[in-house]
Amino acid sequence: MSKVTIIYYSGTGNTEKMAELISSALSEHNSVVSLLQVSSASKSDIEDSDVIIFGSPSMGNEVIEETEMEPFIESIKEAISGKKVALFGSYGWGDGEWMRNWQDRMSDYGAILLADGLIVNGYPEGNEEDRCIEFAKSLI
Ligand SMILES: Cc1cc2nc3c(=O)[nH]c(=O)nc-3n(C[C@H](O)[C@H](O)[C@H](O)COP(=O)(O)O)c2cc1C
Repeated sequence: MSKVTIIYYSGTGNTEKMAELISSALSEHNSVVSLLQVSSASKSDIEDSDVIIFGSPSMGNEVIEETEMEPFIESIKEAISGKKVALFGSYGWGDGEWMRNWQDRMSDYGAILLADGLIVNGYPEGNEEDRCIEFAKSLI
């Protein structure tokens, strides 16, 4: 059984719903899943996990959330090297630039990206819920 940790930030619940859908799908497929808000996460959560899945909405001007997620990512850049990673998040009006940049950054840190980052416009409903579940299944 692989140990999967999902670490996310969500201001208005959209990325949180994605996190819950991904967590549920993984739990049904033989993984031990921890679902953590980034404010509760620490470097040891990275070190102790086989797969780490990060979620952040697009904020600022096409960047990850700046007060909690940004400093956390900066703080784990050495611990993430060689780890299997996937990224997801909700956005409003952009074209996904924040996700492309975030993926490049994690690759630069030496993370092994398991899938293209999953982006959902607003709250995941209907087909977007299915995309979250398929994303989770593609990781294991
Ligand atoms: C301060 C602020 C900045 C934002 N900047 C962007 C942005 O640059 N690009 C974009 O597509 N959406 C942007 N958004 C929209 C959010 O990404 C969107 O509302 C998202 O669904 C929020 O997810 P959450 O409910 O998980 O917080 C911004 C929202 C806020 C509040």
